[in-house]
Amino acid sequence: MQNPDPAPRRARRAGPLKGRAAIPGDKSISQRAIILGGLAAGETRISGLLESGDVRSTAGAVRALGASVTRDGPGAWRVTGAPWTSPAQPLDFGNSGTGSRLVMGAVAGQGISATFVGDASLMSRPMARVLDPLAAFGVAYEGRGPKALMPVTVHGARGVKAADVTVPTASAQVKSALLLAALGAQGVSHIRQATLTRDHSEKMLAGFGARITVTPDGQGEIIALEGPAKLKACTVDVPRDPSSAAFALVAALVVPGSEIELPNIMLNPRRAGLIETLLAMGARIEIANRRTSGGEEIGDLIVRHSELKGIEVPRERAPSMIDEYPILAVAASFATGTTAMRGLEELRVKESDRLEAVARGLTLNGVSCAIAGDDLLVEGGGPDSVPGGGTVPTHMDHRIAMSFLTMGMAAQQPVTVDDVTMIATSFPEYEGLMRDLGAGLE
Ligand code: S3P
Repeated sequence: MQNPDPAPRRARRAGPLKGRAAIPGDKSISQRAIILGGLAAGETRISGLLESGDVRSTAGAVRALGASVTRDGPGAWRVTGAPWTSPAQPLDFGNSGTGSRLVMGAVAGQGISATFVGDASLMSRPMARVLDPLAAFGVAYEGRGPKALMPVTVHGARGVKAADVTVPTASAQVKSALLLAALGAQGVSHIRQATLTRDHSEKMLAGFGARITVTPDGQGEIIALEGPAKLKACTVDVPRDPSSAAFALVAALVVPGSEIELPNIMLNPRRAGLIETLLAMGARIEIANRRTSGGEEIGDLIVRHSELKGIEVPRERAPSMIDEYPILAVAASFATGTTAMRGLEELRVKESDRLEAVARGLTLNGVSCAIAGDDLLVEGGGPDSVPGGGTVPTHMDHRIAMSFLTMGMAAQQPVTVDDVTMIATSFPEYEGLMRDLGAGLE
């Protein structure tokens, strides 16, 4: 899988990284703000929205479904909800797995039909993982092959009864799709999950007026949602994305002499697994001004170059840092000793097969690593040990591109990535922001 018109980039050592960087808004919350705003009666005002390719794809789809979505200025958007109708044209979600899967659930809840398409990466990702559980809400679908690859057509059913469904994978996308489908069902639906995944949908649905309760259940929880729900518009102030902050954060840890500040980063505990892991590896990360904003914990991160050591990262932590393994693997390359990351099966169904893509990138840059079942083992040789010099295939995956550019900022030889185009799907400001901190990108 390759972008037909790739833009390669090379990262090399430069001086220490210094300064303050404004990380853009959280992608998960931005996507949900547009979708829930599109379903709610009245005008939802959003500030701090991430203006990336993925969010713009979702905005386009929600518009095609009948809502009005307008931009007033940087990060300031307005969404006026309307009853959704079946669109005549396919909805094109570009690279966005989250946008497409959540809207599949919402389409089901509205009892309408829609066809979903995307770019080459999205068209190769399994949609059956969300469409099969949606059958509990009467959904029928057509897709390509047993994994239901796009193009996928979803037929929602009207007048369905509430359901009791167990989320079969540790996926917030699948859980959220089920919650959005439950919005249209008669009665109280129960969505059960054995593991805790990001809870933005639950919190935001409550903010939009849905009757929703969450009860602990063993290691997981049960979410009860009453339908049919009439959502009401609200204001959403999007906190800054910890998954994007991760790239600047790890760059500062591995580039000697660095000290940077990343203000207002979301610290939702279900998204904070990377920080927990890096602290255990010896990272010098200070969290200042911890506070709550818009229902989320946020804080200012102060990050200094650190001598890291390899550790065990348990499988139970994976959902709280699922998008951060590529950049953790880069940090682990500069650590002393082995970092064992357990239970990474979900990485195989991301924008690329991230387990393979990371291992390949490490190997191409002289870092020894192994995939053992669903685990990734990285042998770090210490701060100045990474040879670099490789050209990494990014497979249309933004996080693979940003992770290996980070490696190049501290490796002995520059690191090239074959394409940076996809970075705009989640973090369009990445290159400018890293250059302002002093990174050598060329
Ligand atoms: C997301 C959930 C995660 C994550 C994705 C965003 C979300 O996917 O990888 O980038 O916003 O719900 P899964 O829940 O499928 O692991």
